[in-house]
Amino acid sequence: MSKISCFVLLVMGLAFSHCANPGMQLRISDKGLNHANKVLKKVVENQVKALSLPNISGEEDIKGKLTYEVSKIKVEEYQIIDSSLTFVPNVGVQMNIINSKAIVDSTWSVKHWVIKATEKTAIEISGASIVVVFKISKTDTGSPLLSLHSCHADIQKVSIKSNKAIKLMQEKFEKGKLEDYVRELLNSKICSAVTEESKKWADFVNAFPVQHEIDQYTEIDYQLVNPPVFTDRYADVEMKGTFYALNHRTEPAFAPKPFTFSDAKDFMLACGVSDYALNTLSEAYFSANALKITFTEEQINHVLKELYGVSQNVSEARGSLRATKAPVVTLKPQNMTVELAGQIKIAFKEAEKHTSSEFTVDIASSISANMSISEENSKVTITGDLTLNSLALQVTSEDKTQASKFAEVEKSVKSFIETQFMAQLNGELKHGISFSNPNFIILNNLHFYTHEGFIQINTDIGRL
Ligand SMILES: *[C@@H]1O[C@H](CO)[C@@H](O)[C@H](O)[C@H]1NC(C)=O
Ligand SMILES: *[C@@H]1O[C@H](CO)[C@@H](O)[C@H](O)[C@H]1NC(C)=O
Ligand SMILES: *[C@@H]1O[C@H](CO)[C@@H](O)[C@H](O)[C@H]1NC(C)=O
Ligand SMILES: *[C@@H]1O[C@H](CO)[C@@H](O)[C@H](O)[C@H]1NC(C)=O
Repeated sequence: MSKISCFVLLVMGLAFSHCANPGMQLRISDKGLNHANKVLKKVVENQVKALSLPNISGEEDIKGKLTYEVSKIKVEEYQIIDSSLTFVPNVGVQMNIINSKAIVDSTWSVKHWVIKATEKTAIEISGASIVVVFKISKTDTGSPLLSLHSCHADIQKVSIKSNKAIKLMQEKFEKGKLEDYVRELLNSKICSAVTEESKKWADFVNAFPVQHEIDQYTEIDYQLVNPPVFTDRYADVEMKGTFYALNHRTEPAFAPKPFTFSDAKDFMLACGVSDYALNTLSEAYFSANALKITFTEEQINHVLKELYGVSQNVSEARGSLRATKAPVVTLKPQNMTVELAGQIKIAFKEAEKHTSSEFTVDIASSISANMSISEENSKVTITGDLTLNSLALQVTSEDKTQASKFAEVEKSVKSFIETQFMAQLNGELKHGISFSNPNFIILNNLHFYTHEGFIQINTDIGRL
């Protein structure tokens, strides 16, 4: 639907940016929202207790003019007994505090021709329900934009614990009427307090950073490309998901294609990462000159053994591999393929002949992996099964007299990559590469899928 409306807008020549495809996408399900509600409950309870509330003053005609001012209003206790969070289609999120209770301390100054008193008073509030709808959209710069859409408060019962001055005031009101009066007063004040408070939340959300430095080479831009989409069962957050080299920010020459999540309703969160995002990561590392490895002595000796047999005495052997183009990632169901173009340089001395040899080997290869990610004992483990689809080599050397050795070098390097190098990588991946769960979030029940054009990770969250 949104794609159709985007198309219509595009045809009308309006709002071009509304149709940008995301490079990454998050889906938060109602299961995720239930979990967020548990976390938010504690946050709201603490926020309410930390509220600084304005004085309330007014006057009434109760057998003569009565003026009052309520000051030093402090919520001493606040407990949410029942609450929920729900999606509001096309708008955002609704926070339902279905039942809550509070004890509010305050100082009352009352002036009437029969009373003039200032007194500390405790008010017990129960059966308080508050329904607040937050609209969530996006700013021009791609940050989330939160605003208060509506607020409705209803307090069922108020009881006033008071001393003599307020008792006198209570007597001036008809029985129970003071409580009703305070209840009405509070009902009318809660939403203005919520409005004030939500401005602070909005400032916090609107200032949410949309760029993050990943390591010494790259950063990610995950600004929202479209306003979040809310249905009654989930919310989709569409992010740019572009990686850039830290000191070399150029826009990629390719754009993300649309992608659609497969079913994830049994999980709190689904995260989609497109091949676009992975390829910008690859380009970022490439332009930051980070895609190079130096072979270990053991690895280079393996090549030389292939080349000369064990008897040959070589020294000062060096070898390295660097990418000559950014690797290209293609995602297909259960198949992630990386096309690599690189260059291997090998240099060594032949002790007996007192000569140095140097070869350059250009390689073009394609490697596929069936990857999976699992989680256990707060460790996230990546495992995979690698296949070398193709490998083409071309050997050259500055030293033209070496030309007779090219075929041999090619054979040795090929054998090294096919057996030693791939076997080592495959061994590591089969064994699994583990990361400890970040300490602020615990991913439970993690599921990983490679789809056409994107990776989908479904997960529950154990702790926030
Ligand atoms: C609230 O009332 C107290 C006591 O009367 C007074 O000291 C304080 O200045 C008032 N605060 C505001 C914001 O009017
Ligand atoms: C290799 O060369 C080193 C010195 O360059 C020498 O000490 C060693 O004996 C040689 N080994 C063989 C097997 O020729
Ligand atoms: C994975 O995909 C690549 C092309 O994208 C293909 O060449 C390769 O054969 C596929 N591997 C498997 C195991 O399907
Ligand atoms: C990929 O791995 C999964 C799970 O290990 C397996 O079921 C599936 O057959 C594998 N697919 C391919 C193409 O190897």
